[in-house]
Amino acid sequence: MKTLRVGIIGVGNIGTAHCGCIANGRIKGMTLAALCDIDPEKRRILAGKYPVPFFEDGDELIKSGLVDAIIVATPHRFHPHYCETALKNGIHALSEKPAGVNVSEVKLLNKVAEASGAKFGIMFNQRTDGLFRKAKEIIEAGGIGEPKRLVWIVTNWYRTQSYYNSGSWRATWNGEGGGVLLNQAPHNIDLWQWLFGIPSRIRAFCGEGKYHRIAVEDEATIYAEYANGATAVFITTTGEAPGTNRLEISGDRGKIVLEKSTLTYTSLMTPEREFCFTCEKGAALPPMTETSYIIPQGRDGHELILENFAAAVLEDAPLIAPGTEGIRELSISNAAFLSSWTDSWVNLPLSDEDCAGFDRILEEKRKAEKAVEEAAGGEKTAGNKGEAGKSTGKERYISRWNVKW
Ligand SMILES: NC(=O)c1ccc[n+]([C@@H]2O[C@H](COP(=O)([O-])OP(=O)(O)OC[C@H]3O[C@@H](n4cnc5c(N)ncnc54)[C@H](O)[C@@H]3O)[C@@H](O)[C@H]2O)c1
Repeated sequence: MKTLRVGIIGVGNIGTAHCGCIANGRIKGMTLAALCDIDPEKRRILAGKYPVPFFEDGDELIKSGLVDAIIVATPHRFHPHYCETALKNGIHALSEKPAGVNVSEVKLLNKVAEASGAKFGIMFNQRTDGLFRKAKEIIEAGGIGEPKRLVWIVTNWYRTQSYYNSGSWRATWNGEGGGVLLNQAPHNIDLWQWLFGIPSRIRAFCGEGKYHRIAVEDEATIYAEYANGATAVFITTTGEAPGTNRLEISGDRGKIVLEKSTLTYTSLMTPEREFCFTCEKGAALPPMTETSYIIPQGRDGHELILENFAAAVLEDAPLIAPGTEGIRELSISNAAFLSSWTDSWVNLPLSDEDCAGFDRILEEKRKAEKAVEEAAGGEKTAGNKGEAGKSTGKERYISRWNVKW
């Protein structure tokens, strides 16, 4: 196989961007082979634009014999189903983030992936950003030493009520399964665990409908502890303007700060633990050097992930974000929800009991939401409405999806 024939399931905002990018030949190793969307309007608009078969049903696309791989860009809760069907049929699968809603489902999905021999990746495009890669390089080279603390204030995910009104799947327990933790912050939560590892326990506080007329959380504050005594604080919201994006990672030998498109790395000449007990002055600081890195935004991260996925299938290149990373990212957000809902600490890795507890409470929330909707005679749709006309015409990645400092 020289080129991967790709089918895209779900061609809304991001699906159309993937579609345009592959169809326009920007992804080495990929050709657009088929599309699928349950929305007849999307099919009507896009069918004339791309001369490939257009399916109503994702399972049919997968089994059509027309594709070697799929990209799933539907609302989150359908990601595991389509990825699993694909993998079981020997079709490689790239899931949009998050990998799903429930850790329990994504764990099973990864078992299927492992047994299938097909490739399974996640669209964690922010991992390709030069600043995060530099941070990873410094940490892996021992540049911060023994980790002490991660603090990430990422409150510049601002969204208006109009955004939430744009699709009735958005910001609902049934449609989305969560709010900022499941839609905007998965990129940051993934980067958190990619750079600093998975904590051993979490205590979180989620503000549900705090700033918008929505059911799910639009603010979350997570406090986490690690086995070595390190801690993390992660604060995110869609309800604050202008908001902040500042990531600070410190350790025994140094500190990394990412803010305003700059990474500042401070390296301690003497490890802090050693300096603390050997320095005779009471308020001195260890000698240190400071280096700043400004790395211009290169090629779009989504394109890089797509190309990496093609290379993984065609040349067995390592995936930038394999499917198992979907479990790790989602473990932190599932634990945060569970901690907030039960007002208690949650240990990681999530036990089967905690996974079941998360699934049960989410299901209760879904049932309650459904009952209210039915009583109000509400109609549910699966895709975007307000922005739909515009979104189906988008063929490029928009700046909203890039790292915003
Ligand atoms: N990586 C990124 O930067 C990024 C950016 C935006 C969105 N996303 C992710 O992509 C996914 C989609 O987000 P969006 O903003 O494009 O949403 P959207 O509502 O614009 O598009 C979703 C599309 O899926 C279709 N759909 C719904 N259910 C379906 C089903 N069962 N089978 C086939 N099609 C179905 C809808 O009709 C719609 O066209 C979400 O999971 C989101 O988190 C990722």
